[in-house]
Amino acid sequence: MKNLENYSLLAHHTFGMDVKTARFIEYVSEIELKDFLCAHSLENQLWLHIGSGSNLLFTGNYAGIILHSGIKGTEVLTENEKEVIVRVGAGEVWDDFVALAVDNGWYGAENLSLIPGEVGASAVQNIGAYGVEVKDLIVQVETLEVATGRKRIFERDECQYAYRESIFKKSLKGKYIVTAVVYRLSKLPMFRLEYGNVKAELEKCGCELTLKQVRKVIVAIREAKLPDPKVQGNAGSFFMNPIVPRKQYEELRKIYPEIPHYEVDTDRVKIPAAWMIDQCGWKGKKIGRAGVHDKQALVLVNCGGATGQEVITLSEEIQKSVKERFGIQIFPEVNFI
Ligand code: EPU
Repeated sequence: MKNLENYSLLAHHTFGMDVKTARFIEYVSEIELKDFLCAHSLENQLWLHIGSGSNLLFTGNYAGIILHSGIKGTEVLTENEKEVIVRVGAGEVWDDFVALAVDNGWYGAENLSLIPGEVGASAVQNIGAYGVEVKDLIVQVETLEVATGRKRIFERDECQYAYRESIFKKSLKGKYIVTAVVYRLSKLPMFRLEYGNVKAELEKCGCELTLKQVRKVIVAIREAKLPDPKVQGNAGSFFMNPIVPRKQYEELRKIYPEIPHYEVDTDRVKIPAAWMIDQCGWKGKKIGRAGVHDKQALVLVNCGGATGQEVITLSEEIQKSVKERFGIQIFPEVNFI
């Protein structure tokens, strides 16, 4: 187990702020984590569990304990001619798992290619892209209870999944640590190509529809729009796409006939925050050393040396102008620490 003091978090988040944590703990097995939880009562301390920090904005040094999972490994639990049930350690890099699934001919995860982060966080955050959410694949989430170190397995239906939401972010926030996730993938071809330009991009390349090809196209779409955090600090989408009453959307459509939307249910639709931010003229703009990405208005970037506070100031200005123009409050997807 790694147990480090006054440790730099530069390599453990993607926004590029040079901040430190008072203590950094990295465990490599469930047993190691259990022992740690039993020996330290985390409930009475300041602590935070991180994945690869691709959804975090640090506003300064962290005075508590940061935990990180080093639990690796992918194991096929059961398999038949139709599907495979696979258990993956929480510390595995999400996209490595997607690559492995594609290489093995397992369908279901390919639309989630290149999403940054780790397997444990995928189940907390319900990551999603191109018409798929990870909840569609999850069977069980294995955890340890923070207070006792006891193991608890959550069935998918107990996790209260919704758009970028789960029970682990709400009523059980800080109560359980994910150690492994069990996913179900299909061995029979099934593609989800309805979202945005996925189908058009596939047709453009004129190639055969295969799992590998879908992954390649998704990777290309993401790389074209989203900045590489190694080059420019960022945390992917900074805001969530707001879900609004259908009536409000219909009103807005009278003024903006081109307004994009996604269906949620009969009463509600989701409106892309990126479109509204873009309409407000923010794309490519900067306040201090924090900016709005010039190819995807939903992504805020560290233009070099930005502090967390500078990013927050920019985000608040964006929220204000979206609210003024569209009457819609948008909320960050990124966690401020
Ligand atoms: N748009 C603009 N201007 C822009 C960017 C987009 O007008 O600068 C419009 C697009 O034309 C499109 C709509 O906004 O009509 C949506 O854009 P896009 O398809 O790029 O997706 P998004 O809604 O901005 C969401 C996820 C992404 C995910 C993509 C693809 C959230 C918060 N974000 O973004 O997830 O990759 O869909 O499925 O739901 C992330 O969570 O970090 C993330 C990158």
